[in-house]
Formats: sequence, C-alpha cells, structure tokens
Amino acid sequence: MAQFTQRNGADEVDAALLERASGFTRRRLFGAAAANVAEGYLELFGFERSLTNMRKVIARTTRQTGIEKTAVRAFRGKFPNVEFAELCKRLICWLPKLALISLALMAITGTLPYSGGLLSAQEPTGDQFADRFEEINGIHPGFRRNHAKGIGVSGFFESNGNGVRLSSAAVFKPGRVPIIGRFSLDGGRPYEADTPDTRRGLGLQFSTPNGELWRTAMINFPLFPVRTPEIFFERLLAFKQDPATGRPDPVAVKAFEERHPETVAVLKVILNEPRGSGFGNTTFFALHAFLFTNAKGKTTPVRWLLKPMQPFEAAGAAPADKNYLFHDLIRQVREQPLRWRLIVIVGKSGDPTNDPSVGWPADREQVEVGTVTIDRVQAEEDSAATDTNFDPMTLPPGMAPSDDPVLKIRSAVYARSFARRITEKKQKQPSAISRADVNKEQ
Ligand code: HEM
Repeated sequence: MAQFTQRNGADEVDAALLERASGFTRRRLFGAAAANVAEGYLELFGFERSLTNMRKVIARTTRQTGIEKTAVRAFRGKFPNVEFAELCKRLICWLPKLALISLALMAITGTLPYSGGLLSAQEPTGDQFADRFEEINGIHPGFRRNHAKGIGVSGFFESNGNGVRLSSAAVFKPGRVPIIGRFSLDGGRPYEADTPDTRRGLGLQFSTPNGELWRTAMINFPLFPVRTPEIFFERLLAFKQDPATGRPDPVAVKAFEERHPETVAVLKVILNEPRGSGFGNTTFFALHAFLFTNAKGKTTPVRWLLKPMQPFEAAGAAPADKNYLFHDLIRQVREQPLRWRLIVIVGKSGDPTNDPSVGWPADREQVEVGTVTIDRVQAEEDSAATDTNFDPMTLPPGMAPSDDPVLKIRSAVYARSFARRITEKKQKQPSAISRADVNKEQ
C-alpha cells in the first residue's frame, strides 16, 4: 500500500506513484496507480480533502502520462451520470477494490514500503502500525484499530473571543459552533470491559460556518508515555497480552523497560495523577504542541486541554457493569449537558515542541478560549462521529502542526485505520453500547 506522510508534497506523491508503475504499460496499470493515488491522498489529507485532491491528481497524472481518457473513464464508467464531486463521495465504495488492485501492483512490482526514499527507514508506516494493532488485538472488522470502544456525542463550542489574539481560526471568533465527538477507551478490542485505569479518549470536530474544520483527539494523560513513533511501535508489541495469562509477557516488558527507562519515568508521573470517576469529570489533553498564527501573522507554540466543569470525584473500583463508564455518561447527559473549559497553554520560545512526553513549565500562560458543551449521546450506529477520522492534523487556517514526530505519524496511522474500517462496514458487529442501550439510559 502507499505510505506517505504530510512531509511529502503532492507532486512527490504523484511522481512516486508513477515511478511505481514504471516498467509496465502505464495505460494498463493506470487503475492500480490510481488506487495508490487514492490511498496516498487519503493518508495525506484525510477522506474529505482527498475528494478534491482526487480530481486534481487525475488531471495532473493524465497530463503527465497522456492517458487521460482511460483515467477518467475508469472512474466515470463505474458511476455514470454522476457529478465528479458526487463520484468522489462514492469513492468509498471503491476502496476495497482499490486496495486489492493496489496490493496486486505492489506484489507485481515488489514495491517496498520505503521505496522512493519517502520515509526514513526507521519510522514505522501507517500500514505497519495498523498491522501491529491487529497483531496485538485481533481484527474486529469495521472498528477502529485503536480506541475501538466508544460512543458518539454532539453539542457546541461557545467561544469567548480570547483565542483571537493567538489564532486567526474562525472557531475562536466570539460565538457558537456545532461539534460532534466520540468518547472512547484506549485499545483495539471493542468489547473490552471498562476499567478505571484504561486510558480515556475524546475526539472532537468543530465546524465553522465558513467551512473550516478543526479535529482534535485527546486523552486523559497529561503526557504521552513515549517521545517517538518508533518507541510506541515497539511498546505496543512488548505489552501484547499473552492469551494464556491475559497479561503481557513479563520478559518482553522488562526488556522494553530496560531499553526505555525514560518511558518508565514518564509513566510514573502520569499514573500519579488522580483519575476521575467517569468521562464527565475527566481532563482531556491534546498533548502535542501546535503552532497558532494570528491575523497579524504572529506565530505562537501552544498546547490545549479540556478542563471539566463537573465536580471531581476520584475513581473507585470498577462495578459489575462492564460498560459502566459509557452508561454513566449517557445518564449524566440525560440529566444535564456536560461542560468543559477549553484552555490554551501559551508556550515561550525554547519550549520543546517535538516531544509529547515532556511538559512545559507550569508557569506558562493559560488562556481560557471558550466552553465545550455536550448535550447529546448517540450509539455508534447513529452518530456522525463513527465515520469521522479524528485526525489531529485536520486543522483550520491559523493552526498548524509542530515538529512533533508522534503528531505527524498519527495522521498516516489514522488514515489507514479509517480506510480499513470503512471498507469493512458491512461486516461490523453492533458496538458494545448499542442504540437500545442509549435509548434505555436516556
Ligand atoms: C504513535 C502514536 C499513536 C498511534 C499509532 C495511534 C493510533 C490510533 C489509531 C489507529 C486510532 C483509530 C483511528 C481511527 O480509526 O479513526 C486512534 C484513535 C485515537 N487516538 Fe491515537 N494514536 C497515537 C497517539 C495518540 C495520542 C498522542 C493521542 C492523544 C493526544 C491519541 C488519542 C486518540 C484518540 C482519542 C482516539 C479515538 C478517536 C476517535 O474516537 O475516533 N492517540 N489512535
């Protein structure tokens, strides 16, 4: 499959894709090249932005190869009488076939993951991460490869205007914008029982009237346990559950910890933080540094977090209900909307931006930019969040990624997980928290 990162420009992607088709009749292989193009663009830009990019890439590729009619016919033939935008929307139906063709091309050409020098030889690719999640959790068709257990929510963000001095993003103008989101638990097993210690996640999408989108996927840890994708990749395997004991192999864990004492030290800090009793009284951290640029062109490194407005209560032991965290959430939202303050931490020059396992000094300015309100819960079957890829690189103008390598790899991994689960939709079993559960609790 294609492996690309945001580092690669569109032209490089196109060149690499064409390169892969060399040695064969380009005309015959165009379908396969197009499949790779689709995948490359999915990885680079996420699904929505790929739609427009598909049109561009077909135009560009056909210009370069002179096989214009074949390309357009291949897509149009499949969906006659459909406008291109609509056609692109339906590309989703094509993904399984595209993936197969693309696999075939890779098999024929022997294309290696790191061909074309697009990626460093050490950094695992999106595909390799998706494979690793499957290796440690099994394959659960249609579910996210990580944070597989979750529930959809929606509500709104009320901006107080304080963010305008930091970023020109429309979301910070005073006023209210709709949000959709997804509360989740870490891990690739969609029916795993809730526990007080499982890492909690919250993905959010803010959409503004001018069409800007901001997506962020946060967790309840103030620091990420590892500083690079490579170490995360290694750690996943070291902590793989042994089916016989239900626990990781102590020898593998020890070996990992000896190699990475810094991760052990960070985890000590993280695990000392008090854990809230439910999703509603949990603080969620975006962890990575990002760059905000305001209307005057001034760029500032920032991080952000969501502080709950619900009173803190420490987590106790897990009750018998194996979905208790989600059931509590549904009941709480039925009683009254849940609210969080969105806090932006303003970095100073010299604060590290490339390491999510290191915090910034505690005295950094904190700007409260508005309030997130969640007033609706929906089962995964019904929520728009289910088919949303909460790729943290989906940023509006006025926000940009930092040089954090973990942030960058997330984009490629989420795209692969997304592409796999979308193509498996028909095989997906009902989620642990079903529509009936949500209706019952509400
Ligand atoms: C190398 C590091 C990481 C890898 C490989 C990774 C992998 C994944 C994957 C495969 C998914 C499922 C994506 C989908 O199908 O939509 C996911 C979801 C998620 N990840 Fe990560 N992740 C990483 C780092 C992080 C970090 C640093 C955070 C928090 C700051 C985070 C928070 C989340 C959340 C909240 C979700 C669920 C989003 C949703 O509900 O769609 N991840 N992650």
